[in-house]
Amino acid sequence: MRQETSLKQPDCLPEGHIHPPRQKVTKFRNSDRVFFMREISSPENAPYGFVTKGFCETIGRTPLIRLQALSEATGCEIWGKAEFLNPGGSVKDRAALGIVLDAEASGALQPGGTIVEGTAGNTGIGLALVGNARGYRTVIIIPETQSKEKIDGLRAMGADVRTVPEKPYKDPDNYIRVSQRVADQTPNGFWANQFDNVANRLAHYRTTGPEIWYQTEQKITGFVASVGTGGTLAGVALYLKEQNPDVQIVCADPYGAAMWSWVKHGHTEINDGDSVAEGIGQSRVTKNLEGVQIDDAYRIRDDVAVEMLYHLLLTEGLFVSLSSAINVCGAVKLARFGGRGQVIATILCDSGSRYVSRLYNPRWLEEKRLTPKSNGLEFLDRI
Ligand SMILES: Cc1ncc(COP(=O)(O)O)c(C=O)c1O
Repeated sequence: MRQETSLKQPDCLPEGHIHPPRQKVTKFRNSDRVFFMREISSPENAPYGFVTKGFCETIGRTPLIRLQALSEATGCEIWGKAEFLNPGGSVKDRAALGIVLDAEASGALQPGGTIVEGTAGNTGIGLALVGNARGYRTVIIIPETQSKEKIDGLRAMGADVRTVPEKPYKDPDNYIRVSQRVADQTPNGFWANQFDNVANRLAHYRTTGPEIWYQTEQKITGFVASVGTGGTLAGVALYLKEQNPDVQIVCADPYGAAMWSWVKHGHTEINDGDSVAEGIGQSRVTKNLEGVQIDDAYRIRDDVAVEMLYHLLLTEGLFVSLSSAINVCGAVKLARFGGRGQVIATILCDSGSRYVSRLYNPRWLEEKRLTPKSNGLEFLDRI
């Protein structure tokens, strides 16, 4: 049963509190439960928070947070897109939903089918939850080097999780290649293929890009992101360049990856060093990255990124991943390189809660020789 009603204006709000505009609300009755749904077009219309129709509709429309101390220190506006506030906890919820919707539309994913993916964790979490919400099983192939929090979390979410030894991409037992084989062998199986399925970057082109563009009031001058699949960097870059070709697109790359080499020198041969950052660190040009204009790239050291990680936590109250800290280091480097007055956005990819046993464990940091030492912002000179 369904009937139209309208939202009653609450009269118990404290002085000065913004009242919500009157909105049309749809009232549903389902057996003995009644619930209300309201179509929300923008956060301005929803001062009490969004009302959505389910998990999938809750993905995206994340806040853009001004990084106060870093903005003051650089004379630029530096903004972090709070992707850790997605319902599955990371930026990869967007890719997961985009890939599933695209596969449903093309018929590659049939009702009751099984989504199979090789993932460092966050895409798996997004796929498992989107899968649950839309009626699919999920099989996740994950390198055993990934954090226990992510692996345990995926199992708790109902995914069939299979860990494999970490192998280079060219090895037939690399986790991505294993996931393709498992998909082929699974009845009604669908291989999400996040690295080379451009539905991934399309999700960012359609959502993350426009959100950043309008949240910065069309004033953005630079966007920085690291690369896992490249979906975020590519999708946002394609959208922003279409709006304003002068927006600088910068890749922040950890050591051990080859994106810096690709952007700076046009080949992927330089991938020296190593990084403990999870979810990023690409050694090849994925289909998601093909044909995208990236203006510059920076290499960011783990020890400096860990300093940033703790700065973000202790000064800004942001509990995030190392990939997020690498992104923010890249944003600061662009700010210092390009000078005052820029408006720079980057991605806060996922929450620190996924890394409590590692990045937020003093003993683990000590073992890796990554214990942060800075009291203030002097580490910015080492980025
Ligand atoms: C923690 C984390 N940061 C960043 C990324 C990179 O995102 P993208 O795959 O869009 O390049 C990922 C991707 O899995 C991730 O898990």
